[in-house]
Amino acid sequence: MSTTTPIAATVSSTPHTPTIKQDRILIIDFGSQYSQLIARRVREAGVFCEMYPYDIDTDRIKDFGAKGVILSGGPESVHGKHSPKINPALFDLDVPILGICYGMQAMADYFGGQVHASEVHEFGAATIEVTGDSTLLAGLNDDIHSPKQNSNAHSHLDVWMSHGDKVIAAPAGFKVVAQTPSCPIAVMVNEDKHYYGIQFHPEVTHTLQGQALLSRFVHTISGCAGDWTPDNIVDMRVAQLKAEVGDKQVLLGLSGGVDSSVVAALLHKAIGKQLTCVFVDNGLLRLHEGDQVMQVFAENMGVKVIRVDAEAQFLSALSGVADPEAKRKIIGKTFIDVFADAAREVSAGSDGKPVEYLAQGTIYPDVIESAKSHQGKAHVIKSHHNVGGLPDDLAFKLIEPLRDLFKDEVRKLGLTLGLPAKMINRHPFPGPGLGVRILGEVTKDYADILREADAIFMQELERSGWYAKTAQAFAVFTAVKSVGVVGDGRRYAWVIALRAVETVDFMTARFAHLPYELIETVSNRIMNEIADVSRVTYDVSSKPPATIEWE
Ligand code: XMP
Repeated sequence: MSTTTPIAATVSSTPHTPTIKQDRILIIDFGSQYSQLIARRVREAGVFCEMYPYDIDTDRIKDFGAKGVILSGGPESVHGKHSPKINPALFDLDVPILGICYGMQAMADYFGGQVHASEVHEFGAATIEVTGDSTLLAGLNDDIHSPKQNSNAHSHLDVWMSHGDKVIAAPAGFKVVAQTPSCPIAVMVNEDKHYYGIQFHPEVTHTLQGQALLSRFVHTISGCAGDWTPDNIVDMRVAQLKAEVGDKQVLLGLSGGVDSSVVAALLHKAIGKQLTCVFVDNGLLRLHEGDQVMQVFAENMGVKVIRVDAEAQFLSALSGVADPEAKRKIIGKTFIDVFADAAREVSAGSDGKPVEYLAQGTIYPDVIESAKSHQGKAHVIKSHHNVGGLPDDLAFKLIEPLRDLFKDEVRKLGLTLGLPAKMINRHPFPGPGLGVRILGEVTKDYADILREADAIFMQELERSGWYAKTAQAFAVFTAVKSVGVVGDGRRYAWVIALRAVETVDFMTARFAHLPYELIETVSNRIMNEIADVSRVTYDVSSKPPATIEWE
């Protein structure tokens, strides 16, 4: 789990130890936009899995120790010149295999079936008719009118399709057990070999029985226990961290975000006072954020946290700079400088012992993304909170206890470790903080106004239940002045913009359709409670073409 340099690993190769990871599913990624969802659903079923690109080395396939394999969908056609092929070593494993969409077509092609290359794309909701018995679909049914008998032939399943090609002749040994009018081979099974092919996507929630189907595959068919639970993960990780760290000292840059908070709680449980956290208050945080971090970690949990008040240093470095990217770079560099100074002080001797390890909150999607290129690309450093650019004299070993976990698993772990739900369910906050929400030059006055406005917006979102319904919401200091009227007087003051978006992946987003009454309450409160604001606007841009942040 540890590497000697922060920018080293390409993909996690978790040692196959006799733990709750023993029952494990290997997911082979053919490039579908839904591939990560498959892994998340398998984990939700309480089974550990890892996902690798389709051209993963044969040795790694063998060493993985899979009890079952899932082949993902993908954008290619099996007839394409350079279409991704199934590594035959997967079939030598002699374990159950589930092919989804392209995975099914590639399996059909490999075993001598026929795949029809089609220009037309079938995309969206469909109902499949189950025409024969199979272990995979037995008892699964969305049709309340069809009788539940021993056989579920002629029952129906509501599924999500997204494919161009389709299998038109199943290979020898396979039986067709489900169809739709446009897709006569929707499900094919070879019960002797325990090979299953499904044309639809069980990993998306539109496939109503999708989780049940994946659960059937990993538990009943592949024989995996359901030991991958938050409690067990905490126990396992604590034991691993104890063994790995021994009596050494560990340093963690704590940002107050979900990932670093969970790392802090986990390490504290594992090694207690051997952990020192550095929390850098850069003056670009939300209202009372620094105090909240200190309260949760230092006061309530007894974690050793050093709070560095670096507001003046950051604001002075940013003085006179208006360009968004220049601001980002300055904030990132200043963070590294401040953190490195603190790290030097701490590493010189915490409890008389030098610090050997630096902990980071890297999570599994970062690992998957960086492995995708298969070029040994450096692992992704998302923001300056992941302190990748430390000076050479700080040669820490890196420790990444969340490296094999998805965000939803990290959240569950945080709750299991006793972190407040409010902290765990917080919207993401960019590394440069309010620095990219104050348009143009950043000053303390602007930051103070924005903090107040943002806090009012958050209070009202929470009060109305809309905080949980939006993926990200915040206020923006537009640096534009506008005329208003207060009593009999004219007020020439700042314009605040409100932004709230709905998104799953943050790559695309729709502006949240907040109720007008809510926007009105927020707007009135901001203008009445903050004398320096004369006007409030609501941002109705979606991404693309806008971005979520304003800078
Ligand atoms: P955009 O504005 O690109 O934002 O649509 C997408 C997501 O990324 C976050 N974001 C950042 N996070 N450092 C970060 O750590 C940054 O410089 C940064 N810029 C944008 C943004 O808050 C949103 O969640």
